[in-house]
Amino acid sequence: MKVTVVGAGAVGATCADNIARREICHELVLLDIKEGLAEGKAQDMMQTAALLGFDTRIIGSTNDYAKTAGSDVVVITSGIPRKPGMTREELIGTNAGIVKGVCENILKHSPNAILIVISNPMDTMTYLALQSTGLPINRIIGMGGTLDSSRFKYQLSQHLGCSPADLNAVVVGGHGDTTMIPLIRHATWNSAPVTAFLNDEQQKQVVADTMVGGATLTKLIGTSAWYAPGAAGAALVESILRDEKKLHTCCVRLDGEYGQKDICLGVPVVIGKNGWEKILDFGLNANEQDMFNKSADAVRSMNDVLKTL
Ligand code: 2OP
Repeated sequence: MKVTVVGAGAVGATCADNIARREICHELVLLDIKEGLAEGKAQDMMQTAALLGFDTRIIGSTNDYAKTAGSDVVVITSGIPRKPGMTREELIGTNAGIVKGVCENILKHSPNAILIVISNPMDTMTYLALQSTGLPINRIIGMGGTLDSSRFKYQLSQHLGCSPADLNAVVVGGHGDTTMIPLIRHATWNSAPVTAFLNDEQQKQVVADTMVGGATLTKLIGTSAWYAPGAAGAALVESILRDEKKLHTCCVRLDGEYGQKDICLGVPVVIGKNGWEKILDFGLNANEQDMFNKSADAVRSMNDVLKTL
């Protein structure tokens, strides 16, 4: 199995590091446009192999897509990250051109690859990747909900005093500070509803903190976060390569599911060797559906910006 991560910035490099440690592919290519960056980070990671005991071969490449040939999965992290005070949406003009070019180059050398999109604004970049490549819809997966759901579990664990690994909780809708919808009504601590252990105020706090999870970190660090985004990308790669059929929330093309069409938005999906294989209907109530529709409206108007570029 072979995986490529495009973009050797903090998110791409962390994703590659996570993939290597998980030993889910034999060959891992890290590619960047900046001369020497991917080679340097690939070598640095390879120098941890003896210490960590992994066998994945990591190869760095400065924009030489021939090295990515025959990749089974490609993770796209390219583009500029957001700075404090910036929304993910403000990145659209710059990142659209970058993501489109990356998709073209990748498919020249790996026509059968499954693409995982991390670049922001992630919902619009996933939609763009689908429109510009014309790939079957199951082979384009936006990572956002996987990350947001993990952040949701973290916030819940802080209030419940429990292990995040014991929680089931999903964030659907867009990957934006105002468009994501943490579905607290559906969240469980093992199988018990978390709402039984948190009062209304705590529930509101968890939801609010989850929604600004990325922005809070951008403010603290001075740039976009990378540990959780990189790990979320790697978790999806693992689900595909091991054909795990795990349930992740991902941004996928909807065709009537959740009442929406011609849009890529976060919903619970089964991830396996074919990419996303099935959308699960969580049975939203009227209020949740209303929020989902509003989220779709906001993402749709961002997608419309693509037509003006
Ligand atoms: C975040 O939320 C990178 O969009 C990403 O941190």
